[in-house]
Amino acid sequence: MSSNDYFERVADRWDEMRSGFFSEKVRETAYKTAGIQTGKQAADIGAGTGFVTEGLLRQGLEVIAVDQSEAMLAELKKKYPDLDCRQGQAEGLPLADRAVDYVFANMYLHHVERPSAAIKEMTRILKKGGRLVITDLDEHDFEFLKYEHHDRWMGFKRDDVADWFKASNLGDVTVDCVGLNCCADSADESSSAKVSIFVASGTKL
Ligand SMILES: C[S@@+](CC[C@H](N)C(=O)[O-])C[C@H]1O[C@@H](n2cnc3c(N)ncnc32)[C@H](O)[C@@H]1O
Repeated sequence: MSSNDYFERVADRWDEMRSGFFSEKVRETAYKTAGIQTGKQAADIGAGTGFVTEGLLRQGLEVIAVDQSEAMLAELKKKYPDLDCRQGQAEGLPLADRAVDYVFANMYLHHVERPSAAIKEMTRILKKGGRLVITDLDEHDFEFLKYEHHDRWMGFKRDDVADWFKASNLGDVTVDCVGLNCCADSADESSSAKVSIFVASGTKL
């Protein structure tokens, strides 16, 4: 099963699944790190059913939600029928150059084939001075997440993430701890993953 097939299959259960993996603190940390301001435009990449989008809308931002999965976006549309939802892929996001003030991506990077290229593509759609904020998993060794959750990467080294940001024409690069773990049990309950979450940010130069 591909990662896309996986998300198509779990879309109507994702909100419930997600709430067991990590809490709202992840998106609150992302917003704080970005320094979000009401009235600005944001893109939520790998938006899924809208965990990051929802909080941004509540704080008065305009949001464009992008995901490869039609089923995940359909769930998001049920909640926000007027939301600008766009189906698209990491390698070619359906947004113009310099379109938005902020780009967020929560738990998306470990699913893409080429993380460094995905970061470059997210930077492309940022206005000059705009902020890219990625929240994702630190490097881990819980193999079952690859097979059961279709993760492409077993988290990341923070130094690699910082290097990819810098190579993408981003300045003020930081990679910090959110202070929270992502938790999941394997299907046969023989393994319990507890993986720390980082928040990486940079400003488009
Ligand atoms: C773990 S979910 C996270 C969803 C949401 N950001 C959240 O925090 O609940 C990863 C999402 O990224 C999307 N995704 C994975 N690989 C992608 C790719 N190459 N291009 C676009 N979206 C992708 C999946 O369809 C899925 O909705």
